[in-house]
Amino acid sequence: MGIEERLEELRRQREAARAGGGPEKVERQHRAGKCTARERLELLLDKGSFVETDMLVTHRARDFGMEKQLIPGDGVVTGSGQIDGRLVYVFAQDFTVFGGSLSETYAQKICKVMDQAVKVGAPLIGLNDSGGARIQEGVVSLAGYADIFLRNTLASGVVPQISAIMGPCAGGAVYSPALMDFVVMVRDTAYMFITGPDVIKTVTHEEVTFEQLGGAMTHNATSGVAHFAAASEEECLQTIRDLLSYLPSNNLEDPPVRPTTDDPQRMEEALNAIVPDNPNKPYDIKEIIRLVVDEGTFLEVHQHYAQNIVVGFARLDGRPVGFVANQPAVLAGVLDIHSSIKAARFIRFCDAFNIPIITLEDVPGYLPGTAQEFGGIIKHGAKLLYAYGEATVPKITVITRKAYGGAYCVMGSKHMRADVNLAYPTAEIAVMGPEGAVNILYRREIQEAPDPEAYRAARVAEFRDKFANPYVAASRGYVDDVIEPRETRPRLIQALRALATKRDTNPPKKHGNIPL
Ligand code: HXC
Repeated sequence: MGIEERLEELRRQREAARAGGGPEKVERQHRAGKCTARERLELLLDKGSFVETDMLVTHRARDFGMEKQLIPGDGVVTGSGQIDGRLVYVFAQDFTVFGGSLSETYAQKICKVMDQAVKVGAPLIGLNDSGGARIQEGVVSLAGYADIFLRNTLASGVVPQISAIMGPCAGGAVYSPALMDFVVMVRDTAYMFITGPDVIKTVTHEEVTFEQLGGAMTHNATSGVAHFAAASEEECLQTIRDLLSYLPSNNLEDPPVRPTTDDPQRMEEALNAIVPDNPNKPYDIKEIIRLVVDEGTFLEVHQHYAQNIVVGFARLDGRPVGFVANQPAVLAGVLDIHSSIKAARFIRFCDAFNIPIITLEDVPGYLPGTAQEFGGIIKHGAKLLYAYGEATVPKITVITRKAYGGAYCVMGSKHMRADVNLAYPTAEIAVMGPEGAVNILYRREIQEAPDPEAYRAARVAEFRDKFANPYVAASRGYVDDVIEPRETRPRLIQALRALATKRDTNPPKKHGNIPL
């Protein structure tokens, strides 16, 4: 065979791989409003940067007529590329080939890029669109999944792992994303479930649609499995690019600094008026974040889930930071099961990847009630304590208003190894709010008073004067300084600069036992 023929053969094989499941299946994918695996990689990666591996791999199944259906690449496109000039490893499942279902060789292709990502210290991104284990391959396919899950686990905390869900993802196809750090779902076309509506109907007689069971909003707002909901595939892939801009490539690197023209000394007069005089009046904590950070840019994570706490990434002085902020505008910013889990997970991610944590605190306490107690608020609330306690990255806390009870301890208090603790003059720091405290301390006196309401009001005012301010905490050094709200940005930046070389460690151990 001459060189021309050999080249022709190579081109033919490559072409066959690029064609995936063929024009009909591609057409069906497009009709469903979805891009193909290769089109998605084009959108995700810097132009022309994709280098494919294992393009010519085929499956080894020889039953159910599979031996006659050999498609080079076998339903997953793998390789490396760049995002904003930084190396990433990728796999994109190709629904046009056997419904993107996972075979032995398909799993091996994914494992190969995962191993490479960990070896060189580059993020791993998976674009998922798969019917789960390839039924024709049986246990071999299950083994392939387990190989991937193991690698997800070992890579956790070493390189960032991000999943996009861009089609139906069933069975094993959902557990690799669940083991990763962030899940982005496309609205209307992406689903995640362990078992689909048909099986559910057979087993439990429950009737549920794909969307209700595992659509983007189900997992963003109700289950918390997903962290972002995107209106389109383009937005989904852009979200991944945005997210990566805040993250280091691995746990040994610092996050990338992006030069900014936003003045580090910028005073923000509007902040002095943001916290209402009436302690029961809500305000939007995201306003404070936007007014403080570089160019007002904040990438909120888990925006639709447990909205009584806000978490996300921003930059201060060009340096990425993670914000954890109670949200007085939702449920008065109370801590409950979901918000504790949400914040704890975010804090642990930041700590694993050297991203400083800034806490904005305005929390009346933990949500009381049987639903919370029976649901395990004790162990779930403890997750948040644990996450703050074990984190060794720079930790800065600003108490904007309420810091009551256990919530004072939890939310990045000095006692949980926070480095810099600041408070606004509007801060109220006490074991509980004035009303609750007075009802307990003066129960008998209130009952016996000639005018119980007037008596109660007088005691509440007295308590508020004495405890509902930052000065007792400041006099003990539990807050380092009471600041004018307008100074927040310069003070945070000054603290971050000072803490840039912070070193802190935990006692040697195999790993801790976070209350799961
Ligand atoms: C082999 C599969 C497949 C699978 C889909 N296909 N899933 N082939 N193994 N798991 C094939 C279909 O036969 C079809 O082939 C093509 O992919 C497209 O599928 P359709 O059903 O036509 O598409 P759609 O109507 O969009 O439905 C998509 C779907 C559905 C919701 C994903 O296909 C489905 O429910 N599949 C099975 C899901 C599942 O239960 N998987 C096993 C999970 S168990 P043709 O040739 O007709 O185009 C599992 C165990 C791991 O994963 C557990 C680890 C913890």
